[in-house]
Amino acid sequence: MKSLSSEEKSHLQDDTRMVLAGRNTAETFGFVNVPPFRGSTVVYPDAAACLAHRNRYTYGRKGNPTMDALESAWSELEGAAGTVICPSGASACTTALLSCLKAGDHLLMVDSVYRPTRNFCDNILKRYGVETTYYDPHLAGGIEALIKPNTRAIFMESPGSQTFEVQDVPAIVAVAKKHDITTLIDNTWATALLFRPLDFGVDLSINAATKYPSGHSDVLIGLVAANAKALPGLKAMHGDLGVYLGPDDIFLTLRGLRSMPLRMREQGANALAIAAHLEKSPHVVRVMHPALPSSPGHALFKRDFKGASGLFAFVLKASTDKQVEAFLNHLTLFGMGYSWGGFESLAVPFDATPYRTATEFKPGGRAVRLNIGLESPIDLIADLDGALAAMAKVPA
Ligand SMILES: Cc1ncc(COP(=O)(O)O)c(C=O)c1O
Repeated sequence: MKSLSSEEKSHLQDDTRMVLAGRNTAETFGFVNVPPFRGSTVVYPDAAACLAHRNRYTYGRKGNPTMDALESAWSELEGAAGTVICPSGASACTTALLSCLKAGDHLLMVDSVYRPTRNFCDNILKRYGVETTYYDPHLAGGIEALIKPNTRAIFMESPGSQTFEVQDVPAIVAVAKKHDITTLIDNTWATALLFRPLDFGVDLSINAATKYPSGHSDVLIGLVAANAKALPGLKAMHGDLGVYLGPDDIFLTLRGLRSMPLRMREQGANALAIAAHLEKSPHVVRVMHPALPSSPGHALFKRDFKGASGLFAFVLKASTDKQVEAFLNHLTLFGMGYSWGGFESLAVPFDATPYRTATEFKPGGRAVRLNIGLESPIDLIADLDGALAAMAKVPA
């Protein structure tokens, strides 16, 4: 198989790119996949090489061919100068934040952020002298009013993974650039297949690859892709923290990448059909899905995203635990679990009202988040309709 130049690769469609990325059969004796390279110790060919740390690989934590394959595949997809691998999506968020903040700095954090990222700011960053201000996800260029002389980073998550607000990334990046502030985004929902943060000027793009890239609910992994400006700081922090993920999980993620475009296309189309169906149900207050024209973020979504993934939420016409339980317990095809992005459908109840500080979440009923997997949407819709009918029989 001929290896392609960067120029040739730049013309490829994403489906093709994800089949080829990170593979070099000349280096794997013709075998299609890079195997999991296990190892801490790397031996040097001679004393001079050892004294100069001159080896392609120097120590297990610092790199091996399996890591290289995923890092280069992900950088290619993101259009990044480089990528680091973390042992979870949460660790990718914290490593990225630590790479651009120090004591005395101020961080602007979106109010709709994934809760453990919020906890990291409130617990760890605070303890180490970094102040966090939460901002309304609908704030676009208006974020400038929140900037202080010591604001060093703006963190976005778009759409929010529970409440699905879409952020005006270009407007926020324009303000950040004016003030020389680093921008970070948790891009787990879209992945770079549907939204390429670095093309929009974002410095650090974070993905909980536990979700779509690995795709099979059997791996925890996080990836941070950086532009040339942010990469040295990211690599230094990643190395100094001693962050490392074992080769089996990296191998499984590489395997997942090959089918990620196909899976996401199918899951995205099925989720949108199911969201549109739920929107018409008399037992549903509203559906939070940015690809629905009724969504407040729809115009921004249409402007910036190439498509939607398979995660969205909706609000049940329900006010008691008994009603929510009737709905969830009646589902037969949806598991109840706190993750998403895998091949199997999931439903989880959630309440974002207690922890928002810059904005109020007023669902008007009881909220449920759905991960749409690879089952037939016909079966999933029948399952949801049956559960909604069961819920409607329970008195409020
Ligand atoms: C938006 C988002 N970011 C980050 C994470 C963290 O990923 P992990 O569970 O791999 O730590 C999650 C997990 O649910 C998430 O939904």
